[in-house]
Amino acid sequence: MCGIIGYSGSENAAERIVSGLKSLEYRGYDSAGIAAFEENKVRIIKTVGRVSALEHRIDECGGIRSGCGIGHTRWATHGAPNDINSHPQVSGRVVLVHNGIIENYHELKTELISQGVSFVSETDTEVAAAVIDSEYNKAGDPLKAILAAMPKLTGSYAFGILFKDVPGVIYSVKKGSPLIVGVTDNGGFISSDTSAILRYTKKYISLENGEIAVIKGASTEVYNSRGESVKKEILTAKWDAAAAEKGGYSHFMLKEIHEEPEAVKKTLGIRNRHGYIDFEDDGITVEQLKNINFLRIVACGTAMHAGLYAKYAIEKMARIPVIVEVASEFRYSDPILSDKDTVLIISQSGETADSLEALRIAKSKGARTIAVVNVIASSIAREADNVIYTYAGPEISVASTKAYTVQVATLCAFAFELAYSKGRLTEQDLMYYSKIILHDLCEAIEKVISDEERIRGIAQELYDNENVFFIGRSLDCALVQEASLKLKEISYIHSEAYAAGELKHGTISLITNGTPVISLATVPEIYEKTMSNIVEVVTRGGKAFVVCGSDFPDNSAILYRYELPEIDRMFMGLVGITAMQLFAYYMSVLRGNDVDKPRNLAKSVTVE
Ligand code: M6R
Repeated sequence: MCGIIGYSGSENAAERIVSGLKSLEYRGYDSAGIAAFEENKVRIIKTVGRVSALEHRIDECGGIRSGCGIGHTRWATHGAPNDINSHPQVSGRVVLVHNGIIENYHELKTELISQGVSFVSETDTEVAAAVIDSEYNKAGDPLKAILAAMPKLTGSYAFGILFKDVPGVIYSVKKGSPLIVGVTDNGGFISSDTSAILRYTKKYISLENGEIAVIKGASTEVYNSRGESVKKEILTAKWDAAAAEKGGYSHFMLKEIHEEPEAVKKTLGIRNRHGYIDFEDDGITVEQLKNINFLRIVACGTAMHAGLYAKYAIEKMARIPVIVEVASEFRYSDPILSDKDTVLIISQSGETADSLEALRIAKSKGARTIAVVNVIASSIAREADNVIYTYAGPEISVASTKAYTVQVATLCAFAFELAYSKGRLTEQDLMYYSKIILHDLCEAIEKVISDEERIRGIAQELYDNENVFFIGRSLDCALVQEASLKLKEISYIHSEAYAAGELKHGTISLITNGTPVISLATVPEIYEKTMSNIVEVVTRGGKAFVVCGSDFPDNSAILYRYELPEIDRMFMGLVGITAMQLFAYYMSVLRGNDVDKPRNLAKSVTVE
């Protein structure tokens, strides 16, 4: 949460920083700021609101002419979103932007106040700046000051730092929060992720915890936590600038839904080397899979919902018990794990703090960890024993769509491979399912996307409701959790998802005249049961909307029915989720919301 960026070089720093902040805005957008050297003096402009408000303020102030500066877009943790609490924060000669949380800021602040240091904001960041400044006063050298400050700061951070009396140079250090250094011929960048620098360069260095980068124009030096110079490999980002732009769509979310078929093909096509998808290139062999007799899946939010789908697929196909847990609960549950266990972590960003900590706990207990991650070289990807990358490309919209679809498709392929290792599927079966994923699934998703106008029509009927319920059974019950999350996240409509059979145990009392209830029905074996629940709801005044297979029985109780394209039933629910994503998208648009940046949320939750 929060995005940081910096540039030092011969080109216009402010332009690069503002452009980078626009790409980083998905990480937090309640205030923004910039600090830059102008004629060897640091000039700071910051404001509550979006990056566009900062851009406007910079113009009002006559622009910034500088070749070196740092910028920040904030998701407030300590102190309300206002001009004073926004970054950069200043203490003495130190000017600093921060992504993360300084957990011991209160003790540090008390100590510094007793030494005569004064503070103007409520932020933990100002305290970090003061700690570094106090060390700078003692050491007289920026690098030594940062090295001395690091052990004093508990928590997570990626800092971009200017020292007022060292013009043209950016110092940067990370612990627990993502940070990369972009490399170009005319200068260097720091950034929370590669998307913010793709317009200028695809070359970057990934910093490890405790490493400090010193960027002075095109020269970048990296030091370890002992202050020794280290040589870093220059990596090349796989994504290009166009992938991180809207490309003619009105919102990133819509663009990203449209990218789902391509993302599935890209992710699993390269793993389809023998006529079926396997994970040998990811270091996961059939022999290893054979030894898995129980699986724990840990993730947050939508990624956790992908885990619920995986549980269904793995238990059905491989007959291996699976537990799915929310990472924030798992990490404090003293999980019972040993070296015989495998823990699967799912994360689009690879930086979610709870999921990362869950991974570390699982490893510390000896369990083998496999991560399904979208962002290359992210923290989770680097720390897991095995990583299965999804190649969905950058997902900018806060609401996750294509990442979920690709995670589910990948995890289903994983379930089939697991079933094969257990002798429950043949090579022929693997070929059959691989074709379904790479061809039928992508085609079915495309069909749903081409139905966009119809789905918009349903949203038109429902967008002014304040409560919407979703129900489903079996796999559909897992899926409606995601449909409901998507809707509430971006439309701000109160929405709940229930196991259809549970309604009678309490929830049905919420159904009043005209309450929309959306049922997902893709599992034929339990169609009749779902239908009974729909009739019960309608009898109590509910309005029944059904998303179903074409073989779902008809009934006068159903007000509106949307039939999904025919496909193997393992995947029909996934196709149904694309329809639900489009539904949530149009509900949000029709309510006039900021679809890609819903209130209070940030894309990458790098704090607890
Ligand atoms: O990056 P991750 O997949 O680890 O993120 C997990 C959740 O924060 C994320 O899926 C969140 O729930 C989405 N905003 C939902 O659309």
